[in-house]
Amino acid sequence: MERSLEGQVAVVTGASGGLGAHFARLLSRQGATVALTARRLDRGEALAGELAGAGGRAMALRLDVADAESIGPALDEIEAALGPISILVNNAGVGGEGMALDVSVADLRNAFAVNAIAPFVAAREAARLMLSSGVAERGEGRILNIASIASQTVLPGLGAYCGSKAAVAMITRSLAREWARRGIAVNALAPGYIETDINAAWWPTEGGQRQLKGFPRRRLMQESDLDAAFLLLVGPAAAAITGTLIVIDDGQSLPGGG
Ligand SMILES: NC(=O)c1ccc[n+]([C@@H]2O[C@H](COP(=O)([O-])OP(=O)(O)OC[C@H]3O[C@@H](n4cnc5c(N)ncnc54)[C@H](OP(=O)(O)O)[C@@H]3O)[C@@H](O)[C@H]2O)c1
Repeated sequence: MERSLEGQVAVVTGASGGLGAHFARLLSRQGATVALTARRLDRGEALAGELAGAGGRAMALRLDVADAESIGPALDEIEAALGPISILVNNAGVGGEGMALDVSVADLRNAFAVNAIAPFVAAREAARLMLSSGVAERGEGRILNIASIASQTVLPGLGAYCGSKAAVAMITRSLAREWARRGIAVNALAPGYIETDINAAWWPTEGGQRQLKGFPRRRLMQESDLDAAFLLLVGPAAAAITGTLIVIDDGQSLPGGG
């Protein structure tokens, strides 16, 4: 199979597990050099070792994206170590669970900080680097925000999550417009439910089982269901795709139960 991302340098936030680790493996298999960032450095380092063992090139860096001021220096450090960044995957995310009457202001703030403000700031800092390194001039800049069906669909008890994911969906379009003539494509992926740490405790519950039975296909998705759209949006084919949000949800957000 052709390695479509040979020579590219990709940064993944929240690469310590779940979808972020999956995306990092996918990027590496396609030939990209991958910077794995998250708060849990031990996990990032283990994954970097795994990727190197499979013939890839990777580095791990501790980055708490809720501290927005620390994102720019982290990207500078990555670029100094690996070369010009051409792909940014804004994947780090938190659930921010809680009914509106109960959710704490701290959880609300954290949901927006991690799910919306961090992708905005990381995109800006990555764009700054892409514009000065020549990546943008060659039309190779790719920023992919991992949104969610929650950006378009009301998920009960997840108001903070839905609001923050709707924000990142619109941030995607705004930045795409702003950088449309500057060689940087900004897009978003809106996955449906896939079992990871963010929701694993929910599925065995009565409510979780009821929700699952309401999905048209009565199942959760697999991480690999996202691969084709992910590679489209981070790869060369996205040269003429910007400001797009692709929903991959196995039909989960289609209206009507049963
Ligand atoms: N799973 C789904 O069904 C689903 C569906 C739609 C969209 N998504 C989105 O997909 C993305 C990945 O979620 P997931 O399902 O893989 O969940 P997960 O397994 O809980 O992973 C979340 C990742 O985000 C990182 N993270 C959280 N807070 C962070 C912070 N302050 N700074 C840096 N990293 C932080 C975590 O790393 P550390 O704890 O090590 O920092 C972890 O690697 C999220 O944006 C999520 O909203 C998931």
